[in-house]
Order: sequence, then C-alpha cells, then structure tokens
Amino acid sequence: MPILQHGIPQKLSRNSLARASKASRSTRHLFTQSTPAQRTPIRTGLYTTAFVLSAGVFAVYYFDARSALHRYILTPILRNAFDVETGHKIAVKALKSGLAPRDPVGDDERLKSRIWGEAVSNPIGLAAGFDKDGEAIDGLFDLGFSWVEIGSVTPNPQPGNPRPRMFRLDEDNAVINRYGFPSQGHSSVLSRIRARIPNFFSRPPERAALREGAVLAVNLGKNKESPADSIDDFVSGVRAFGPFADVLVVNVSSPNTPGLRGLQNRDVLEKLLAGVTKARDDLEPSVLTSRKPKIVLKIAPDLEESQIIDMAEVIRNSKIDGVIVSNTTIQRPKTLINSNKTEMGGLSGPPVKPFSLKALQSLRANLPASIPLIGCGGIVTGKDALDYAKAGATMVQVYTGFGYDGVGACRRIKDQLIDELKKEGRTWEQVVNEAVEKLSWTEPEPVKKGEASIKQLIEEAEELKSMLDKLGDRMET
Ligand SMILES: Cc1cc2nc3c(=O)[nH]c(=O)nc-3n(C[C@H](O)[C@H](O)[C@H](O)COP(=O)(O)O)c2cc1C
Repeated sequence: MPILQHGIPQKLSRNSLARASKASRSTRHLFTQSTPAQRTPIRTGLYTTAFVLSAGVFAVYYFDARSALHRYILTPILRNAFDVETGHKIAVKALKSGLAPRDPVGDDERLKSRIWGEAVSNPIGLAAGFDKDGEAIDGLFDLGFSWVEIGSVTPNPQPGNPRPRMFRLDEDNAVINRYGFPSQGHSSVLSRIRARIPNFFSRPPERAALREGAVLAVNLGKNKESPADSIDDFVSGVRAFGPFADVLVVNVSSPNTPGLRGLQNRDVLEKLLAGVTKARDDLEPSVLTSRKPKIVLKIAPDLEESQIIDMAEVIRNSKIDGVIVSNTTIQRPKTLINSNKTEMGGLSGPPVKPFSLKALQSLRANLPASIPLIGCGGIVTGKDALDYAKAGATMVQVYTGFGYDGVGACRRIKDQLIDELKKEGRTWEQVVNEAVEKLSWTEPEPVKKGEASIKQLIEEAEELKSMLDKLGDRMET
C-alpha cells in the first residue's frame, strides 16, 4: 500500500512527479501558445493580496449567519438534496464542526429579558428536538440563541420509531414528526456536556451555559419501555443532569411516546412534580455553577380549558419554576395544504401557533406572575415573538422556523423584533412585565368572617325572593 507523505503517495515521488510537472507545462503551452509569464515580485504580491482579500471577504460573508448564501443557497440545497432527517443530521454535524456561521451582532438593549430575576441577552431560544444528543451546543449558542435546549434525552439509549418519521409540509411551512425520542441516552449526552467544560476551575462560570446572559436547558424524556405512569425516568434525569444544566425540562407532552401525555392528568402530575422537585432539592449545589437547576414543565397545546385549570392548580401547589407552552399538536387544522398532513405525529410550525397561544393565555390566567411561561409554537417572525410576550410569555422558543429559514433565523427574528419594539417605543421587558402583571392569576382575597355571613345572607335572600316570585307567577295562572 502506498504510504502517504504530505498527501502524496510515495510511489509517485520524484520521477513521476517530474514527468507530471513536465507534462503539465507542455499542456499549458499547448493551450496558451506563449511562454509562461515572468513572475515579478510585484505581480506575485498583487496576486497574494487579491487572494487573501477575497478569501477574507468570503470568510466574513460565510461566517455571517445572516448572509444570503445560507438563506437562499445552502439551506435550500440541504432541504432539497436530502431526505428531511438526513438534512437535519448534516445540519447538526455542521454546527458541531466549529466551522458553522455565527450571529455577528451583539444583542440590542431592547431585547434584554429577565427570567427568575436573572438577565438573558435576548428572549429567543432554540426548542428541544433539534440537538437531541447535545452535539452542537456551542454552535447553536453562536447563532444567537440565548436559550439552547438539548434533548429529549432518555435514560437508556433507544432508536425511536422506524423511518421515515419526519415529514415536511412545505406549503404550510410546517413539519409533522413522529420521532419517538431517538436518544443516545443519559450517559453519552452527559459526557458530551462535561467535555464542554474546559477550564472552569480557573474562572468558575455563573451558568452551565458557560456564557453570559445564556441558558443551557436539558429536556428530559422517557424510555418507550418504561411503565406509562412511572416517574422514575424523570427523577433519574434530574439527578444525572442537575449539576450540569441551568434548566431541566420535564417533557410530558410529546405525542409519539405511548402514555406520555397521560402524565399531564391531575393525580399523576402531582406525583411527578413532587418527585422531580424533591430530586432537585436533594441535589448538592453544582460544583460548576454553585446552584441547583430550575425545573420547567413542557405541556401540549391540545388540552381542554378544564384540564389547564386543573393543571395550573397542581403547578401552583408545586415547586416547579416555569412552564413551556407548547409542544407539537395532534390536531390538523383545515387550512393545511400539503398531502403529508395525513401523516401520524405532532404538527409544528405556523399552523400550531393559535393552539399554543390559546393554551398559554389560559395558563397565564391561572398561574401567578412568579411562574414564568416560555412560549413556543409557530414562531417565525419578530411579530410572532411579540404576540407571545403580549400574552404573558417571558421568553420564546423556535424550532420549525429555524429548520426552514436556516442559520440566520434567530438573527432575523431578533432584528424584526427590534423593529416591532421600536414602533411601540417599548423594550421586551416592558412588554412582558405589563402583560404578566395584567394577565396573571392572583390569589382571591380571603373573605372576612363578618363579610362572609352578610354576603351569604344576601345570596339566600335573593334566592328566596326568586322562589317566591316563581310561586306568585304560578298562583296567578
Ligand atoms: C422534528 C421535531 C422533533 C422534536 N423533538 C422534540 C423533543 O425531542 N422533545 C420536545 O420536548 N419537543 C420536541 N419537539 C417540539 C419542539 O420543541 C416545539 O415544541 C414544537 O415543534 C413547536 O415549536 P415550532 O412550531 O417552533 O416548531 C420537536 C419538534 C420537531 C419539529
């Protein structure tokens, strides 16, 4: 076997190279019919400068996530040349490589938000499901997201449902997926997260994101083989990832794991929330951040109003820190055009927005301001993000819009959001604070003893009067 030296097989050395070089010179003469141009130092300098400059310009252009190259050439190629799951895998590998584009612009002051009293540089997060195994965390932060959520991660590795399991609905800018939690499992994902922590001993970071104004969330899923009403997979997720995440998301809302959504029902939910918050409270503060993680519940957009009211009561009585509203929907709005609409699974993208927004509004009205909501579902523009803020969401997340729009999606949404906020003359935080204050649930005033009996007397008198009126009417007829 030829041995490679500087990329050239050794068998080709010396004589063959000399022959090849001679042949190439004669070929050039054949086409140019002229003697090779004399290379003066000035000419060489000019060529080198031109090359360096154009390479530099291309690099600046390439590494800028906003450039048209990504939006109109590379993303469509990725979308059309491969099936949707392969395209997704290639995108994750590219973002993992360190050679991916980035958001070159610092976040505008208007975008600053605050969650659990702490600053984040902008309110746009990446939702779970894109980086299921935590392979491209830093590539994703570099695209400008302030919240990167990896997962869902299951305790044991599992393959998920058979392929195909993800379908594009191009005319609707939507996707249906029935992945069923393919996951490399807790230990692989954990070792990847740990490998990111290069030198925190010299400068302990405040957050597991290892960046200022950013949040690293791990979304916890459940193995298909685990009993439907068991909470053990979530509890073990809290124990495993607690020391290495800012936020842990308890996902009880993916439609593709049998029985999972049943955990949203009152009795099991009470048990689940008590179990995961106890596991968190029992953790030692993280050696990385000196803190314990926040715990957030992720819910479906398909709940009845009465279920949301029930759920809110359970959440109010728990130690949960926030709620993501929402996951994908099992509903199929009549407006869907693409024939893939009949595929089984969860629908995401703009068609899910009305359902998610409605669920978020109902939950906001039933939860106190102290429990922040994170809006998710069909956000593709700055205006969409603002709609969620006005409904009382503190932050938002994006997935399908990112898939369609490519690496510049986050930056574009932020730019549009800045324009919207300028029009309104307000900052994101002002919009959120006003909405949360106005729309959140407040504890009903306790009725004082004396007042209660007077109120009761009035009610009884009114009831008696209406009975007498009815009796009088009957006697007259
Ligand atoms: C292909 C795909 C895979 C997803 N996987 C997960 C997942 O593993 N865990 C989860 O909580 N949500 C998952 N989601 C749901 C998203 O996180 C998000 O809640 C939903 O898609 C709505 O947002 P969107 O309309 O911006 O996509 C997935 C969504 C898609 C499209």
